[in-house]
Amino acid sequence: MDLKEALKLRHSVRQYEEKELGEDIVTKLECFITEINTESGLHIQLVKNEPRAFSGTLAHYGNFSGVTNYIAIVGKKSDTLEEDAGYYGQKIVLYAQTLGLNTCWVAMTYSKVPSAFKIGQGEKIVIVITVGYGVDQGQERKSKKPDDVSNIEADSPEWFKEGIDAALLAPTALNQQKFKLILLDDKVKAKTGLGFNTKIDLGIVKYNFEVGSGKDHDIWA
Ligand SMILES: Cc1cc2nc3c(=O)[nH]c(=O)nc-3n(C[C@H](O)[C@H](O)[C@H](O)COP(=O)(O)O)c2cc1C
Repeated sequence: MDLKEALKLRHSVRQYEEKELGEDIVTKLECFITEINTESGLHIQLVKNEPRAFSGTLAHYGNFSGVTNYIAIVGKKSDTLEEDAGYYGQKIVLYAQTLGLNTCWVAMTYSKVPSAFKIGQGEKIVIVITVGYGVDQGQERKSKKPDDVSNIEADSPEWFKEGIDAALLAPTALNQQKFKLILLDDKVKAKTGLGFNTKIDLGIVKYNFEVGSGKDHDIWA
């Protein structure tokens, strides 16, 4: 499965089988996370066999079950931390999907278990991502249309259209999809609307757009 297929197949999954990740999968995920941390300067950590974060009232309210593994997105406080958390976290999400795993971004409906991950000086935890074998592959959900989120036209370049389709498949908090992607000559301007976690959403959306359009990070105006 390549990344374009992975972004089409990915849906949030909140119920997991009681099945360990396995040594090979853990090694692959940890190597990938190390690469991402080197590239981004973030301090992302895989938390394994830790059931407490998703066994309290909040997780129950959020309809989670069987979560024992998650990825803690930790990084140095900065103006770009949230967007970086989204962008690099989504790289891990799509990579995990190619390994046959399921995921869900979670900002609210979990309990922080401080002993489960490390937070260095000047750092904070932004969000977590559950990871494991879902009881199913999740469900399709409602989506905005390309012209709700962009200045797309019938004669827009194919790469832009494909990027927008991929952006609309990106997970956003409460499925709010409060972003705008504006084509300006051969660059794209990405903007957030007002709402919860919209900066994290924007990072996620940017990565999906890059995968869908085949462009790299230089595409952003
Ligand atoms: C930044 C962010 C925060 C989220 N926080 C939560 C959460 O606290 N609890 C939850 O159940 N889902 C959470 N989600 C998952 C969204 O509800 C989900 O991505 C959205 O409804 C779209 O569905 P999809 O991921 O299947 O495309 C979050 C997603 C994002 C991107």
